[in-house]
Amino acid sequence: MIKIGIIGAMELEVEALQKEMALEGVIKKAGMDFFEGALDGVPVVIVRCGIGKVNAALCVQILADEFRVSHVVNTGVAGSLNAQLDIGDILISRDALYHDMDAAVFGYQPGEVPQMGFREFKADEKMMNLAKEACEKANPDIHVMYGRVVSGDQFISSKEIKERLISEFHGDCAEMEGAAIAHGAYLNGLPFVIIRAISDKADDSAEMDYPTFEGAAAKHSAALVKEMIKGILP
Ligand code: ADE
Repeated sequence: MIKIGIIGAMELEVEALQKEMALEGVIKKAGMDFFEGALDGVPVVIVRCGIGKVNAALCVQILADEFRVSHVVNTGVAGSLNAQLDIGDILISRDALYHDMDAAVFGYQPGEVPQMGFREFKADEKMMNLAKEACEKANPDIHVMYGRVVSGDQFISSKEIKERLISEFHGDCAEMEGAAIAHGAYLNGLPFVIIRAISDKADDSAEMDYPTFEGAAAKHSAALVKEMIKGILP
């Protein structure tokens, strides 16, 4: 059975979707409110997980164990690491990895979780395609592209760190949950995609831009999610 877990880190990232859903019930777990119901007739569980990797990973596990979701979608905002991604544009994950996992001293690649054998968690291709098509429909004036999400427990707001995330990880956008959601989805055998609208440039201007643009960016991402999930139904 199709049931889509939709995760946003912040209230702003999920509130528009929660308002539009046909709500069946709210279950509280690990301090998170899981809103179960349907969005345009598609079974969903929508949840604000809170910020950072631990919150994100716990949330995916609860969606898998308690709600038996079939797919995971992460909606939200991110800092751009790619000159082609301007504030307001949208990035759809091709893959996601951690920028703050480092066991290089034992020969692992930067970002690789030891003993995992790879460092990139690959998004589901069908969901990626649906997200791109949906964006062209829901937000036709917005530039959208596929790319790499790099995640860590750090708000990126310096040129030096931004440069490192580009040179070492080839990231296209930086945020704080995507790779943990991807990792959790992978361990539970769930297809996932991360959709992030750009709220800042992850450099010295990020502190100023983020609060200015996060609201509009979060709404763009949510509008896309609403449009795309219809395509997941068989
Ligand atoms: N989310 C939005 N902008 C971000 C940034 N610059 N760093 C980390 N997470 C973000």
